[in-house]
Amino acid sequence: MKKRIVLAFGTRPEAIKMAPVYLALKKRETIEPLILLTGQHRTQLEQALAIFGVPYERNLDVMTDRQTLPGLAARILPGIAQALHDLRADYVLVHGDTLTTFVSAWAAFLERIPVGHVEAGLRSGSMSEPFPEEANRVLTDALCDTFFAPTEGARDNLLKSGAHPERIWVTGQTAVDAILFASKQGRLPECVPPSGRVVTVTLHRRENWPVLGALAERLAAVANAHSDWTFVFPVHLNPIVREAVMPALSACENVKLIDPLEYGQMAALLARSSLILTDSGGLQEEGASLGVPVAVVRNVTERPEGVQAGIVTLLGNEPETAMNSFAALMDDEARIRSMARSKNPYGDGYASERIASALEERIKNE
Ligand code: UD1
Ligand code: UDP
Repeated sequence: MKKRIVLAFGTRPEAIKMAPVYLALKKRETIEPLILLTGQHRTQLEQALAIFGVPYERNLDVMTDRQTLPGLAARILPGIAQALHDLRADYVLVHGDTLTTFVSAWAAFLERIPVGHVEAGLRSGSMSEPFPEEANRVLTDALCDTFFAPTEGARDNLLKSGAHPERIWVTGQTAVDAILFASKQGRLPECVPPSGRVVTVTLHRRENWPVLGALAERLAAVANAHSDWTFVFPVHLNPIVREAVMPALSACENVKLIDPLEYGQMAALLARSSLILTDSGGLQEEGASLGVPVAVVRNVTERPEGVQAGIVTLLGNEPETAMNSFAALMDDEARIRSMARSKNPYGDGYASERIASALEERIKNE
């Protein structure tokens, strides 16, 4: 009998990095993969799944406007527990570091169903950055019995936290699988000019909320001073983010403030960009995969491999310093070229197949 593996996820980045895992599991004779969505995101989740064509069994549809973290956790926990029971889950897979990740792993743990963590072991070393993601990831790892670590560094972090070496597989990042798949299919958004240099911008992290308005004001000044560049900024649907960044940037002609893009279009935009300016986790991996330098508006990153490889630079999140450093990077063509030549530390596009093989091995004696 096939083992019923439930992939539980609910936000944009989880969907993008778990869809390739579902597709790889689907090819295995011993496994029946089933997708269970929390619906922590709504539109952004649909946009992320659109190009993969993966079906889901159930969507708890928990998202509310301006949801709070405790309220969200309280809606996810019983819903996931009941759905795992209804779907007769033999095993659960969660991904990454969102509230959905931790609460789904906790629900499975409480139901005594073993859980595997895809993208396990990343650590920034600070519980306040990224917030609350560092805690989500640490807590999830504490509940899981199998770990799919994207890099050797993530494996080392897991070993330090006491994980058993035989339960850790180093697989590469499924973000690489996803971006390679998507960049072959997407078409560029209409606002992207046919020629000239482009920067993709995304900013949304909770720990950056207090400085988002000031970051946007400084970014407007950088854009005004670089009228030969186009800045394409798909703005997260969170009203807190939109209210902070849109007023400061809406008057800049060369800043295209647009709604979030379907993943295929996003992949095409990233591939067309000379630089990425972001506080996202996933974009650090995608920039590294596409050879597009990434400037990160954070003080620390749980993805140090990109910095070590040279494709990622940390700007901090103090608005004036961060945006002055970014403007200096834009003006330094030689540095941009040298960053772009870095080797991708995140994998080769076969992480999902490795996860499927490891999982088959893990469950064969269950
Ligand atoms: C969440 C994750 C974060 C991840 C990010 C990816 C947590 C605590 N945070 O943060 O780790 O990096 O997703 O984007 O799990 N909204 C919509 N439509 C959507 C999605 C969001 O309207 O499709 C709005 C809603 O008003 C919602 C708000 O955005 O209440 C915040 O969404 P939420 O998932 O709580 O936080 P994110 O900042 O998206
Ligand atoms: N993304 C997308 N459309 C957008 C913005 C981002 O498809 O308009 C993709 C992006 O390419 C990456 C993922 O969403 O794969 C990153 O998600 P997000 O920034 O929301 O979360 P994080 O990576 O910070 O957890």
